Amino acid sequence: MSAANKSGRASQEFVWAEAAAKYIFRKTKLRPKIALVLGSGLGAFADEFTRSVKIPYAKIPHFPRSTAIGHAGQLVIGSVDGVPVVGMQGRVHLYEGYSVREVSFPVRVFARMGVKAIVLTNAAGGIKREFTQGRLVLISDHINLQGVNPLSGPNEERFGPRFPDMSAAYDKEFRASALAEGKRRGIDLGEGVYAALAGPSYETPAEIRYLRSIGADLVGMSTVPEVISARHCGMRVLGISCVTNAAAGVLDQPLDHKEVLETAERVKDQFMGLLRGIIPKIANALK
Ligand code: HPA
Repeated sequence: MSAANKSGRASQEFVWAEAAAKYIFRKTKLRPKIALVLGSGLGAFADEFTRSVKIPYAKIPHFPRSTAIGHAGQLVIGSVDGVPVVGMQGRVHLYEGYSVREVSFPVRVFARMGVKAIVLTNAAGGIKREFTQGRLVLISDHINLQGVNPLSGPNEERFGPRFPDMSAAYDKEFRASALAEGKRRGIDLGEGVYAALAGPSYETPAEIRYLRSIGADLVGMSTVPEVISARHCGMRVLGISCVTNAAAGVLDQPLDHKEVLETAERVKDQFMGLLRGIIPKIANALK
């Protein structure tokens, strides 16, 4: 593709994000400043939004459709204790065959909607030994091993700068609030570094030993493209992993997607309680 065509693609994506945002605004009067991406088995939180409007991804112009099991594939706009929010019930992943730009497109739509903060949740494997099955962990930083970056190609300045800073990608104030909320609820939240791989095969034990040696505490197949795009657009980010399994080779047992979904289901109430407690704090921090 020529450079001119590529820069055309960057501006086209901006136009698409505008079109998607406009479509969503026609469906609701709410104007949320907070977005939530609800990962594998965690989508049920959006069913608790009040006065909610649900929009299947397939209906939103240019929006990617989700195919993963455990993902409903719809946008839910509603309120949590009076705070307007937009939630993604399920995300799309690189391993489904989507490009990294498609994966992060919804974040850019949220930016065009005026969203200022995003809470990204996921299911992850626990590399650090204390991150056992069912543990909820705040992401303090990440390592991008997906081999792609959503900002590759000509930069669209209307989204953000060419070289966005990533030295404080996971908002310190949000993490402190989340830790305090966890404490209040008797949830022992961990904090750790999330390594993102492309998947869909789970890691080998040798890969997990490698990831541990480079400083990763959690491993998964999502979130990082969305975080990069969110930071590019100037959004503040909170990332929370649900450790659904010990990473490969940590325990002497094979990994299974069913186990991932079952664990997410088991800690769902705790996770949802935590999110409910955090949202008003984020709303306050944005004032
Ligand atoms: N590895 C990668 N992604 C995951 C895992 C894992 O062990 N568990 C849940 N998502």
